[in-house]
Amino acid sequence: MSERFYVTTPIYYPNDVPHIGHAYTTVAADVAARYHRLKGDEVWFLTGTDEHGQKMLEAAEARGQGPQEYLDAMVPNWKALWDRLDISYDDFIRTTEQRHKTPVQAFWQRLYDSGDVYLGSYEGLYCVSCEDFYRESELREGNCPVHGRPVERVTEENYFFRLSKYAGWLLNDYYERKPVSVQPGNRLNEVRSFVDQGLQDISISRTSFTWGVPIPWDTNHVFYVWIDALLNYITALGFPDGERFGRFWPGVNLVGKDILRFHAVTWPAMLHAAGIDPPQLVFAHGHLLVGGEKMSKTKLTGIHPDQLLETFGVDAYRYYFLREVAFGQDGNFSWESLVARYNAELANGIGNLLSRVTALIDANCGGEVPDPSAATGDAERALRLVVERQIELYEDALDAFAFHTGLEAVDAIVREVNGYLVETAPWKLAKQEGTEERVGAILYASAEVLRLLAVLLSPVIPQAAGKIWASLGINTPLSEQRLPAAVRWGGLPVGARIARGESLFPRIEG
Ligand code: MSP
Repeated sequence: MSERFYVTTPIYYPNDVPHIGHAYTTVAADVAARYHRLKGDEVWFLTGTDEHGQKMLEAAEARGQGPQEYLDAMVPNWKALWDRLDISYDDFIRTTEQRHKTPVQAFWQRLYDSGDVYLGSYEGLYCVSCEDFYRESELREGNCPVHGRPVERVTEENYFFRLSKYAGWLLNDYYERKPVSVQPGNRLNEVRSFVDQGLQDISISRTSFTWGVPIPWDTNHVFYVWIDALLNYITALGFPDGERFGRFWPGVNLVGKDILRFHAVTWPAMLHAAGIDPPQLVFAHGHLLVGGEKMSKTKLTGIHPDQLLETFGVDAYRYYFLREVAFGQDGNFSWESLVARYNAELANGIGNLLSRVTALIDANCGGEVPDPSAATGDAERALRLVVERQIELYEDALDAFAFHTGLEAVDAIVREVNGYLVETAPWKLAKQEGTEERVGAILYASAEVLRLLAVLLSPVIPQAAGKIWASLGINTPLSEQRLPAAVRWGGLPVGARIARGESLFPRIEG
């Protein structure tokens, strides 16, 4: 059944150059979006940039530029990377756009009018890099626990949102929902115990600078950056009246674990207070580590996608991170593991399978997909059963954002068909008399598995999947394939003209 699927990435701070951690969320969201399009769902995929607040202002000032001018120069770096990574976003929101600022004001005006916002005075410890407040007890040696930098003591008259009022709703309703609204389970527990300890109202405005969305009822204040940023997920849909808002909200917010509290506490409470449905799912993934540690600018351990794209190409890039790291857990990046997976699973696995099967069809069947009907036997039936089981596992996994499990299933299919080829050895069989039909049946089954692999891999490695599809000479485009029909065994047309192409994934020497 066709459903609606709305998926978002966090909106990134464009003062940084994108590193592999940022690209991780975006690639995952892209794979989810492409997978749901493959299922025939109506999909909307949003990404964008988070452009207000003190950090952006300071970054611009350090360059001697005005913030807007500075941001206009930085944002294209992000869009260009998403293009290089084949990110198929439907919309890119910048929080400095009017289409964002006006509905942010309308949203908070609603909460101000309903009494959920009040003026109070605030004293707190602020980390500009995090754009977040800390309690004294959370500091590490007096510094920000995330960045290790000094925090600022901020005393201001601020507007507050009555977050504390919504603790009961969060605990007794939102976190209890089925299907579960915050995942993975360990993250949900973490959030629940945080709220259990009692919530404080949160400051939503600043007066010490003006780089933000002005508060409509008191223009001495601008909204605190997170308070405007979270709303991007609905402003981009045209909240409050946009047709797309009605159609796609509530959606799925993919985020990193470091920003889970904002997304799983503040964000649903804000929406609930305004009478809007909370997100259908907030899924928090883990962090990519380098050498077992957080990437660090000072230690020069920050890895940027371009450093990898040049050597491995976009498909291998996309494949590696989702295959290597269980989505939801931290995972380590290393050049060695990337080379190892590339060679084992892409070059020797899928790439080799394609060149082997197309060469065999070329040599033994005149380059046309043979008719298997006269000689399909137990070996093919056994292969088919295993493949069908793995396809089920793949679908269940991708429905649950378990990309690593989905790709494990794909790899199991590749290993299975390779084993089947070794066992049936059509290259040996073909040398004997009267074996054409049997050889044809074996090569049909192998090519059919390649077709299935192209469909299953199309969300993850769209370029290579397209090349596999083209090699198989199928007339209907890959982009028109829909699950589950596209993965029903036997879809490869007999007589299709096989084309032998260049090597999909040439081996790389570590
Ligand atoms: N602007 C806020 C998000 C606002 S969303 C309403 C922000 N931006 S960010 O650019 O700092 O980070 C964006 C995302 O990148 C976060 O989800 C964060 O978890 C992710 N990553 C940053 N470093 C990461 C790794 N090393 N590994 C994986 N993801 C990480 O926060």
